[in-house]
Amino acid sequence: MVNIKSVKDRYNEVTSYSGLWTFIKGSGRYIYNCYLYKKYGFHPWHIQPIEYAPYRLEIIKQIENLIRHEKNKDITLVDMGSGIGDLSRNVRFGKNVHISCYDPDKKVIHVAKQLTKSGNITFKVGSFDKLLNDYRKKEIHIFYAIGFLHLMKSKMIKKIFFRILSEINISYIIIDERNHDFRDILGKKYSRVKHKKFNDIAVSVFKKNKN
Ligand SMILES: C[S@@+](CC[C@H](N)C(=O)[O-])C[C@H]1O[C@@H](n2cnc3c(N)ncnc32)[C@H](O)[C@@H]1O
Repeated sequence: MVNIKSVKDRYNEVTSYSGLWTFIKGSGRYIYNCYLYKKYGFHPWHIQPIEYAPYRLEIIKQIENLIRHEKNKDITLVDMGSGIGDLSRNVRFGKNVHISCYDPDKKVIHVAKQLTKSGNITFKVGSFDKLLNDYRKKEIHIFYAIGFLHLMKSKMIKKIFFRILSEINISYIIIDERNHDFRDILGKKYSRVKHKKFNDIAVSVFKKNKN
């Protein structure tokens, strides 16, 4: 049964961030995602439409802000733990932008490929090892990893980022900060340039410092 209180809370949260139209759009996507869930049987988390989670809309907004000034060169974005790709598919970008998405879950990558028409977005099964294989000694303009790092211990996240950042040149990192402080995890090489709070989640943008 639909929980009226949770619908009302969600309605209030979404409409105060981005208005009634976004809530209506989200309801359409919710129904479509329920259909996809029935058809493909992925984890129910992915049913939640981006429009129902203002912090996810904020991530899209921050990505668009950062790529707006990069119209004259080819840039790469990486979406780690992309799920079915709802975040990356909803970023408005030009032909110079390429988005590589990774997720260890074969089922969500299969669905993401079915849903994605743009040749500029690619999906691969895998995680940080696969990323290192593909981007060692290369550049990534924006790296975002949303919705799973909070489940790891901070020591483990530090280890992963130390390895990745010593081999790949990443200009910006966008993270949903929950129970970790990424200023401590990323250390002196990065500065937090944006930090916006949404209840128990904050969206943070880190920029690589010039040496
Ligand atoms: C809560 S979902 C978020 C999906 C997507 N980032 C979004 O916000 O729409 C978390 C995703 O992270 C993936 N994931 C879990 N552990 C991971 C890891 N170690 N490396 C990469 N992705 C991982 C899961 O398979 C899942 O698809």
